[in-house]
Amino acid sequence: MDIIENKFYFLLTYGCQMNESDSERYAGQLESLGYRRTEDMDMADVVLLNTCCVRETAEGKILGKIGELKHVKQHNPNLIIAVTGCMAQEWQDRLFERAPHIDLVIGTHNIHKLVELIRERQAKSGHYLEADMTVPAFHDLPTKRFQKFFAWVPIMNGCNKFCTYCIVPYVRGREVSRPIADIVREIEEIAKEGYKEITLLGQNVNSYGLDLKDGTDFSALLQAVDRIDGIERVRYMTSHPKDMTFAMIDAIADSKKVVNHMHLPIQSGSDELLKKMNRGYTVDQYMELVEYARKRIPDLVLTTDIIVGFPGETEEMFCQTLDLLKRVQYDMAYTFIYSPRTGTPAAKMDHQIPQEEKSRRLQRLMDVQNVYSLQLNQAMEHKEYEVIVEGPTKNDENHWFGRTTGNKMIIWEHDGSAAVGDTVKVAVDKGQTWVLKGHLIH
Ligand code: SAH
Ligand code: SF4
Ligand code: F3S
Repeated sequence: MDIIENKFYFLLTYGCQMNESDSERYAGQLESLGYRRTEDMDMADVVLLNTCCVRETAEGKILGKIGELKHVKQHNPNLIIAVTGCMAQEWQDRLFERAPHIDLVIGTHNIHKLVELIRERQAKSGHYLEADMTVPAFHDLPTKRFQKFFAWVPIMNGCNKFCTYCIVPYVRGREVSRPIADIVREIEEIAKEGYKEITLLGQNVNSYGLDLKDGTDFSALLQAVDRIDGIERVRYMTSHPKDMTFAMIDAIADSKKVVNHMHLPIQSGSDELLKKMNRGYTVDQYMELVEYARKRIPDLVLTTDIIVGFPGETEEMFCQTLDLLKRVQYDMAYTFIYSPRTGTPAAKMDHQIPQEEKSRRLQRLMDVQNVYSLQLNQAMEHKEYEVIVEGPTKNDENHWFGRTTGNKMIIWEHDGSAAVGDTVKVAVDKGQTWVLKGHLIH
């Protein structure tokens, strides 16, 4: 492969961890061509935006960034602008119409096409689109991992659930699992490189393996990964309540390394709305899972996703969601205002909720949740936790942070004694709503 001297790429990732992981495969290809990463857009020879379209707000932000790039390209006409990921898959050549300064649009199954398209674009200016979803989702590609001790490991791509509000199945395609041997091999390799913590990624990890039809499932994968030497912690994202089983909870509980954090999105506390969302479970069925998980996994840290303002959500249904928060007492809830996505069934449903009402409900929901987030974090005060050091916080070089196995972020005053990647003990002094403050124990 020809190596290019002093060429730089600027990469921005939007959306979920799947996109973070895909970005590492884009970066791997760029680095294999000799490009180096820059944080300065004006220095870049290639700008790559790896995009998300799950909500309108995400798209709006990305369109804003694409607008900014027009000026960058005016100063540097040789700049290659690539838009990739879910929004690229959804918009395809409409992106060129909207912003002719974009050079490449690459869909979710076509990550491996980057090098070829850059070459074509270098040979001849023009618009290049690759968004074929019939090709395999996984390709053996060089990976440039952005972190040193934490690694994303995709175990599957796509989603078969078709929740009525969600665009993901349309832009990521059907569920495809990676063979267990490939996943284990990748983790064994990164364990040798010194990685300590991995996160198994999929839109619905609980249905892992079902398409392979060889008897493998998520429990078997967890058991295989648990045996890999060198790895200290195994995380997994995201679980779906319909496919989560007691056997999987047992596999988590009986493992040595799978963490005590479970992200189990409920979306709504109303059975009627869950049905309209096509989620495939009731609140009672969900609660059975929560109770079993809390019985089997000591100190379980439970988090969730909730949507407010889904079409037809009445005040009474919304109050059922508030009641559910009180009943479950999550450590944290990621809360979203329902965003109609063209092409999804919910966008055409009657009784869309006005924006102001959606915003009011979001605020009420957060007010209730924040009480529990604070209480549960305060309950950690004066106790000791093991964290893996991640480094300085964003705003303050003198304060460093790490995460517990339960994924709680603890910040302490840095005294030079702990290095990034060390596993250390921290005592919690103060629990706040979003974060904990503590000190290192020597
Ligand atoms: N596969 C995961 C979620 C992926 S999307 C799961 O099913 O749990 C992440 C979250 O975004 C979802 O859990 C949902 O809460 C939210 N979301 C998805 N589509 C949305 C939409 N149209 N409007 C608002 N929130 C949405
Ligand atoms: Fe979207 Fe539902 Fe699939 Fe999650 S399970 S990605 S919310 S369709
Ligand atoms: Fe967004 Fe695609 Fe993830 S739509 S949430 S980046 S799967």
